[in-house]
Amino acid sequence: MFPLLPLLLILPISAFVRVENRSVFDSSGVLFSPNYPDNYDDNLDQFTTITVPVGNSVILTFLDFFTEQDYDHVDIYDGGDTTKNPDFVFSGDAAGSALNLTSNVVVIRFCTDMIGVARGFAIEWDPNPKDKPFQVKNSCEPAPRNSTFGLITSPNFPYNYPNNIQCNYLITTTKNRIFLQFVAFVTEDGFDTVTVYDGPNITYFSLGTYSGTPGFFSVNSTGSSLFIVFSSDLQNSYSGFSALFESID
Ligand SMILES: *[C@@H]1O[C@H](CO)[C@@H](O)[C@H](O)[C@H]1NC(C)=O
Ligand SMILES: *[C@@H]1O[C@H](CO)[C@@H](O)[C@H](O)[C@H]1NC(C)=O
Ligand SMILES: *[C@@H]1O[C@H](CO)[C@@H](O)[C@H](O)[C@H]1NC(C)=O
Ligand SMILES: *[C@@H]1O[C@H](CO)[C@@H](O)[C@H](O)[C@H]1NC(C)=O
Ligand SMILES: *[C@@H]1O[C@H](CO)[C@@H](O)[C@H](O)[C@H]1NC(C)=O
Repeated sequence: MFPLLPLLLILPISAFVRVENRSVFDSSGVLFSPNYPDNYDDNLDQFTTITVPVGNSVILTFLDFFTEQDYDHVDIYDGGDTTKNPDFVFSGDAAGSALNLTSNVVVIRFCTDMIGVARGFAIEWDPNPKDKPFQVKNSCEPAPRNSTFGLITSPNFPYNYPNNIQCNYLITTTKNRIFLQFVAFVTEDGFDTVTVYDGPNITYFSLGTYSGTPGFFSVNSTGSSLFIVFSSDLQNSYSGFSALFESID
């Protein structure tokens, strides 16, 4: 009896792997794992083909990335040929990774095994003209933000932020409160800081000022808005931060 048990467990489960293929032709956007920011499912094998206009190559920016280390992975096929080995494989904590691909077509394959799930990923893609160096954005992102969830980053993330810049981010919720989770964070310790205020501006209570490499951390608003100020001084810059916000009850 006993030797049969593993077979009975394994055979039916492999039949449930959900294979999904889709194609996207937008010149830029963000690819989210299924259910993001909630955990993805087991047994996925999902292919997404992204095609940006001819004459460009694809730039990928990992705004967020967290999967079960070694078992759940993202494979990147520059050019889109999935019969060869992937050009890059990501698993575990890879928020802040970035790739300059050579082709205007990329396949992003997401494979998960039958047990263990995590938040997944938010991977931004952008086109870059083939004969030109990739232009990073040196300005603050447009504010305010009001959605069920989203991501905010320092300018140029994950490339070094500019010196002597101040960026303000106003987040308002579609529910009651906001859960803000920093998924990547590296700034000049003591000089380049992120301060989070528990309200719509700096007159509200500060939930904390962060700099250096504080690791993963989160803050929760008590009300319907959060105001975040990022400021850098005149010298030394690092990759900055990426943070996921979610409206919660
Ligand atoms: C999805 O695409 C992969 C790679 O191109 C291919 O091997 C597989 O057969 C496709 N599956 C479906 C259901 O279309
Ligand atoms: C992408 O290209 C830019 C500009 O050419 C460069 O600064 C950056 O280091 C490159 N990124 C990677 C991951 O190679
Ligand atoms: C945010 O969005 C929600 C739902 O769409 C809406 O009810 C609310 O008024 C918006 N808040 C702001 C400050 O725009
Ligand atoms: C801060 O927000 C409150 C509530 O919206 C408002 O009454 C106050 O004028 C604001 N203060 C500043 C300095 O913006
Ligand atoms: C914020 O709320 C989330 C979800 O309710 C919780 O997991 C997290 O620990 C909280 N963070 C802090 C700093 O209280």
